[in-house]
Amino acid sequence: MNLQEIAAIMTGNGKGILAADESNGTCGKRFDSVGIEKTEENRRLYRQTLLTTPGLENYIGGVILYDETFFQKTDDGKPFPELLLEKGIMPGIKVDMGLKDLVNFPNEKHTSGLDGLRERLANYVKNGAKFAKWRAALTITDELPSHNAIHTSAHELAHYAALCQEAGIVPIVEPEVLINGDHTIERSEEVMIDVLTTVFKELKEFKVDLSGIVLKPSMVISGSECPNQASVAEVADKTVKVLKECVPADVPGIAFLSGGQTEVQATENLNEMNAKNSNLPWNLTFSYGRALQASALKKFAGNDIEGAQKALLHRAKMNSLACQGKYSSADEA
Ligand code: 13P
Repeated sequence: MNLQEIAAIMTGNGKGILAADESNGTCGKRFDSVGIEKTEENRRLYRQTLLTTPGLENYIGGVILYDETFFQKTDDGKPFPELLLEKGIMPGIKVDMGLKDLVNFPNEKHTSGLDGLRERLANYVKNGAKFAKWRAALTITDELPSHNAIHTSAHELAHYAALCQEAGIVPIVEPEVLINGDHTIERSEEVMIDVLTTVFKELKEFKVDLSGIVLKPSMVISGSECPNQASVAEVADKTVKVLKECVPADVPGIAFLSGGQTEVQATENLNEMNAKNSNLPWNLTFSYGRALQASALKKFAGNDIEGAQKALLHRAKMNSLACQGKYSSADEA
């Protein structure tokens, strides 16, 4: 399978991506919130529940896994990447090693994990990975993000993306602009333009083939503490406007992160963008973590495996409809 074919399966045909790549630390926080003990076996059981959901392949074209999960197996001994491949779902792997403080820039981060990445990628590819993910995270205040934080994050993303393509897999390029803060949607728009412009400049410098990447951006949205929350229509209009301005048409797919939006909010915003714009050059879809898993995790915590799978399948279906601009709140019932 070439890069373009992989990207098309991940983001085309009304499908999106399940981000199930929480690091053990982040997964631990999610487990704490619902009272699940943070053990390796509980993480395996939870991911097994998600990945064995009957019919998941109808709405999901790719699943992002964390290193531990990537090498775990189902109860009957099947490695998770193999299980996904049998369903026609692309297995992906988070390869960044997390955020680190950016020297000389208090309150800003950059992403670690480039050292040894070429060798790690080769091992994941050998074990079935078809794509990878690398997340940068930028904080908005009146002064931040700094030019240097944007540049450093973009440069690291581009270096990672080039290494993935060398290894024959699709890089998900994720420059997350965090929702935390009291900034307005206009400030989010301004930062997003700056970030995406820099990311595409660096991708070009690294000679990355844009037809073989998937962009995973935040939506242009009000800060979570902003007193005047922008409407669904404003989020959709501003997000599509910024993407048209900054993302070249050769990029096959744009798959949003949910970044703290509620399950329904993330679906509504995605639907509005697709309902209002029929001729976009890229597939506009989802790569949600919390917005696909929140309800499923609660059911799992109550030992309701079937309920957890039903909840995940429902959100996947709602977001698949949203990719096609066909979602209505009546579908939630
Ligand atoms: P959320 O959708 O929960 O933001 O997670 C997506 C993700 O993969 C963040 O890196």
